[in-house]
Amino acid sequence: MNTRFLDACWGKPVDRVPVWLMRQAGRYLPDYMRVRSKCTFLELCKTPELAAEVTIQPVDILGVDAAILFSDILTPIEPMGMELDFTPGPVFTKPIRTMADVEALKIPKMETDVPYVLDAVKLLRKELAAKVPLIGFGGAPFTLACYMVEGKGSKDFAALKKMMYAEPEVYAALMDKITTMDMEYLNAQIAAGAQAIQIFDTWGGMLSPSDYERYVLPYTQRLINGLNRTNVPVIHFVKGAGTMLEIVKEAGGDVMGLDWHVNLGKARDILGDMAVQGNLDPTVLFAPKEIIEREVKRVLDENAGRPGLIFNLGHGILPTVPPENAIFMVDCVHRLTQK
Ligand code: CP3
Repeated sequence: MNTRFLDACWGKPVDRVPVWLMRQAGRYLPDYMRVRSKCTFLELCKTPELAAEVTIQPVDILGVDAAILFSDILTPIEPMGMELDFTPGPVFTKPIRTMADVEALKIPKMETDVPYVLDAVKLLRKELAAKVPLIGFGGAPFTLACYMVEGKGSKDFAALKKMMYAEPEVYAALMDKITTMDMEYLNAQIAAGAQAIQIFDTWGGMLSPSDYERYVLPYTQRLINGLNRTNVPVIHFVKGAGTMLEIVKEAGGDVMGLDWHVNLGKARDILGDMAVQGNLDPTVLFAPKEIIEREVKRVLDENAGRPGLIFNLGHGILPTVPPENAIFMVDCVHRLTQK
């Protein structure tokens, strides 16, 4: 078993810097499209054998140092009582708008409501045993609330922000319920065998630092505090957090996920000895190979040899990236850091 990803999460020395890519299983891979062409995205998420197959594809094709469970942050929201579709972006037919809507939300029983997620984790631990560790994941309460209130993706999530400012008690009740669900969901993944957890807060960075501290931090903090995380590192990725890292650090994760708007070295100066993950601009994977290598080297130079680095993109890989460029990027990280 290749342990350099887990070692780096704990800040231990490694023989070379570990690397994986957010959204590494997906549409840029022809092998994914072959599986995906036979079923819908949700069917893929709900069939453990297929979810396991597409989870392992990037491990074999790219040579990454970790696998991330194939699922979606919105998978556990459906059994809360919200009808979900992907077209291909997520759509909730009846978004949450009132206190009555919040009260109607159920806390799923993970073993019976999302058995396919836990079965996929168990299957993957067997299939990955001689390969790499498995990362489980969930959305941060705030990002989940964005989709649940807006009903779909949005530039500004105005419906959610309106609720947050104008009806704080509805917002608080919703966030509280999501946090409870999330804690049980992630603990169920850990119990099933997930060896690290990543929390995706894709939209947390659209708030001012003071609003983040008031409206988001207490919930993510409670979530992370409630995880059974002995030996299971928690990676906390808040996109757009570069201007408020010292606040986001208070949430209590073991590894800070960084997007590409921040200089990785400067972020590390602020974060002290906390491990970091990031932070190549995902569009660099469209560049010629010499530019990809130059940018990988720049990020590594910013890190300046400090332990506790997991190399990644600053957000998910884009669906039109040529796979050979992703393979080349992974190889660059390994080659340039080999001890
Ligand atoms: O990283 C991985 O390889 C694991 C799989 C994974 C998916 N979604 C699969 C997926 C992970 C970790 C996610 C997280 C996720 N999902 C986030 C947080 C991370 C981020 O990217 O910001 C968010 C906001 C979502 C919600 C979501 N799911 C959106 C906005 C979309 C549509 C955008 C798109 O890429 O089409 C999805 C669908 C989705 N989730 C796909 C995949 C592979 C595409 C579905 C398809 O095959 O058609």
